Amino acid sequence: MIAGSASACSLDRVSAVRGDEFKLAGEEAALRSADTIAANKLMDRFDDHHSVWLFGYGSLIFKPDFPFIECRPARIRDWTRRFWQGSHDHRGTEISPGRVATLIAQPGATCEGIAYLITPDVFDHLDYREKNGYLRFTTDMTFEDGSGAEGLVYIATQDNAAFLGQAPEREIAIQIAASVGPSGRNSDYLIELAQALRKLGKADPHVFAIEQHLNDLAG
Ligand code: SIN
Repeated sequence: MIAGSASACSLDRVSAVRGDEFKLAGEEAALRSADTIAANKLMDRFDDHHSVWLFGYGSLIFKPDFPFIECRPARIRDWTRRFWQGSHDHRGTEISPGRVATLIAQPGATCEGIAYLITPDVFDHLDYREKNGYLRFTTDMTFEDGSGAEGLVYIATQDNAAFLGQAPEREIAIQIAASVGPSGRNSDYLIELAQALRKLGKADPHVFAIEQHLNDLAG
């Protein structure tokens, strides 16, 4: 197994993906809170599998600090990436939250990211890392060769305590420019994600617009 970066994924494996509905277990919904570690333990769907695909669309793209067997560019459908989730523990604080990526349901939309094939024991680390509002959901993802797989994705939905919601992209950029947390500057999260998407040959108008506002604010 390797722990690597997005660059470990060759661009010729960028996938054409088809996504399906995410399924949230009732117990998870009941346990939804600012700290999702306990709720995520209930998502035991893949625990008896040797390996499982994890779809990453935010920091999991540019900061894969976990062991994986393989990674491939991938895509899911009917969800779009938005900087609508607050970050109290990575790129901001409780008093001054940053803004990080989550997925918002949007029929017909496509979200490009990277899929990692991991062993289920890696979820202990991931659940801790994603504990500020993110729950594991099952999803279908599609790879460049048209093949697909069912796997998991972390999503911070609007009923989690750290959710901030929609705002004009310039206001999002202003908040990001001002935020810093234990994992570093919030602006680095945005910029590293934008760079990683470009490297994959993928455009995300929302991410790129916030990046442009950040550049304007700095300039
Ligand atoms: C992800 O990257 O897939 C989840 C959100 C994050 O950790 O930034």
